[in-house]
Amino acid sequence: MAAENFAVTEHLVLRPMASGDAAALAAYRSDPMQARYQSWETPYAVDTAQALTAEMRDVRFAQPGSWLQVAIESAGRLIGDVAVRVDGDDPRQAEVGFTLAADAQGRGFATEALRAVIPLLFTEHGMHRITAVCDTRNDRSVALLERVGMHAPRSAPPEIRLVERRVD
Ligand SMILES: CC(C)(COP(=O)(O)OP(=O)(O)OC[C@H]1O[C@@H](n2cnc3c(N)ncnc32)[C@H](O)[C@@H]1OP(=O)(O)O)[C@@H](O)C(=O)NCCC(=O)NCCS
Repeated sequence: MAAENFAVTEHLVLRPMASGDAAALAAYRSDPMQARYQSWETPYAVDTAQALTAEMRDVRFAQPGSWLQVAIESAGRLIGDVAVRVDGDDPRQAEVGFTLAADAQGRGFATEALRAVIPLLFTEHGMHRITAVCDTRNDRSVALLERVGMHAPRSAPPEIRLVERRVD
């Protein structure tokens, strides 16, 4: 049985990763431009992507302490992901990350995906604070976070921007 979608937006389906996503995931993670400010090395092997998609089978959306890669699908194709991790010690705080394949950038898709995931976390999963950790040299990422209403606290060190949004 197909897994349930997390959200459907005007252009995108946000859904769990599946084993059939491994080749596309490995392809965009292997692009040095997309990996530049990320935690993985390039090239990113299809086997590694396969292992990641298999791990994701056991992770629920907003499950405290675990990263979940939410697949971003457009026109039936995996074009990127939003990563979500609810804090294991404080389940009212979550962190998000995101990657789009190069050929899917510049069309507002990451904005559209985050604008779907952020309200899900606040409204359906009771988050009070959502953060993203982002290198300040990563201009597209900073611009994206600002577009979705996140901002850097004054105390953030200059090389790393911790962007946050709060609700009371
Ligand atoms: C960060 C990243 C996802 C941003 O991608 P992006 O394509 O710039 O962001 P969006 O998909 O929201 O698209 C915004 C662009 O589309 C344009 N756009 C077109 N239609 C739009 C719409 N309806 N809404 C918003 N933007 C739209 C915007 O003007 C903007 O283009 P510009 O930067 O030339 O002004 C992408 O650069 C990436 O994957 N980087 C590598 C991974 C990474 O570093 N992740 C962050 C780790 S913290």
